[in-house]
Amino acid sequence: MNLKPETFQRIDEVITHYPVKRSATLPLLHLIQEDAGYISDEAIAWIARKLELELINVLEVVTFYPMFRRAPIGRRHVKVCRTLSCALKGGYKTCETFEKEFNTRLGTNHISPDGEVTIEFVECLASCGTAPVVMIDEKLHENVDVAKAKQLSDQIKAEAAARK
Ligand code: FES
Repeated sequence: MNLKPETFQRIDEVITHYPVKRSATLPLLHLIQEDAGYISDEAIAWIARKLELELINVLEVVTFYPMFRRAPIGRRHVKVCRTLSCALKGGYKTCETFEKEFNTRLGTNHISPDGEVTIEFVECLASCGTAPVVMIDEKLHENVDVAKAKQLSDQIKAEAAARK
């Protein structure tokens, strides 16, 4: 499986925290999704072998929890808070701005045509006082009104162009 060497190290370390190997299923899924962006069939089979489980034992965990993705997403993951404070302060408009800027639709089953972005609604990001709030990959952005959403979109596009 194609993961960073440090992810493999963290996986081996995490397994030692549990007296029963199967208890490491959830942490392993999180580590793999963090690195690969989603949980592939290959990852499920790999975890099953690693933890001496049946495939179905891993698959049932993946399908039970909505936070696990079964398909790749864009290179950048834009998470827009839709809970009350953010919704009242224009979070839906913020989301529409990202959709327009990247010519894509909301949802982890959509990737913008340039492969750059997947936009998702999430629940409260614990920064309600600075609503509307958006998380791009691991970084939190506050007071993301339409103008700031455009500015962040330009930044993502510039970073994408710089990679080419
Ligand atoms: S409601 Fe959006 S951060 Fe709390």
